[in-house]
Amino acid sequence: MSRVALPQYLESAAVTPELQTVLLGLATVSADISKALAKGALADILGAAGAENVQGEDQKKLDVIANDMIKDALAALPAVRGLASEEEAEVVPCHTDGRYLVTFDPLDGSSNIDINSMVGTIFSVLPHAGEAPVTEQDFLQPGRHQQAAGYVLYGPSVMLVLSTGNGVVMFTLDQDTGSYLLTEAEVVIPVEAKEFSINMSNQRHWAAPMQSYIADLISGKDGPRSKDFNMRWVAAMVADVHRILCRGGLFTYPWDSRKPDQAGKLRLMYEANPMGFLVEQAGGEIWTPDGKILDIQPDHIHQRVPVILGAANEVALCVDYHQR
Ligand code: AHG
Ligand code: MN
Ligand code: MN
Repeated sequence: MSRVALPQYLESAAVTPELQTVLLGLATVSADISKALAKGALADILGAAGAENVQGEDQKKLDVIANDMIKDALAALPAVRGLASEEEAEVVPCHTDGRYLVTFDPLDGSSNIDINSMVGTIFSVLPHAGEAPVTEQDFLQPGRHQQAAGYVLYGPSVMLVLSTGNGVVMFTLDQDTGSYLLTEAEVVIPVEAKEFSINMSNQRHWAAPMQSYIADLISGKDGPRSKDFNMRWVAAMVADVHRILCRGGLFTYPWDSRKPDQAGKLRLMYEANPMGFLVEQAGGEIWTPDGKILDIQPDHIHQRVPVILGAANEVALCVDYHQR
């Protein structure tokens, strides 16, 4: 069976040649990252890097390796005006006449690295919005402005999931040839959910509306929802969102009273916005308790946000618990 390869797909999508170079560059470097991940302990790349990132989180060696690989790959592309990464304190200026800004989470789900479980790379492409050289201000655009977004899931197979604003498609990496081949042409999230995804160990720290929403899901057939729900938590947003794109459900990472001044754990520009672009393009919804995430005007590249995403009806219901 002959399958459509990523370059062919991008040719046929309404994507500028410059954006094609960015997406192909990300695809190529992700295949290289997957090879490094596959070597694991043999290449001495597991464990801590011994440093903290700008967000005060301990970096793993692979956070740093993946960040450097993606940074180098993107900086080599004339179309890239600048980049911002979860692992970089400041934005990185690249080519003064580049058309695009790229933000990324080089290695999502870092806590899974040392247990040989699923991790990913998340990326978002924004139009450039200022004079050269690039400043942080240029990146502070609502998620609605994204020209493309996606992720790579490093799982039993390596998959690239992408939207250029015309639906969501999935590619699988052919390890023999190194090319990404189209394996799902039209991703749609069912409007009703049967499954939810949340780190339950934080339950006592959530706000009251999230406590009662989840309590009602857990009470199943005997509760107000009159329906049993299944629960899954991979602890890598890429893998949890991938499941939702494949078979539906709701994912949330809520605000937590242990860090009352921090909006949530997940980052708006490296995690929530790109995933939000995919989820909306697949017919789902992504909200904070008080509005749609893609409409948020960012005020800081590293800002965080509470996230509720997935099946449209279930997200609406969860938001309703917060707004009642
Ligand atoms: P990262 O590894 O990029 O810091 O992101 C981890 C995030 C996200 O991927 C995941 O949903 C969540 O943190 C896992 O959080 P818990 O440790 O609370 O499970
Ligand atoms: Mn992450
Ligand atoms: Mn990360």
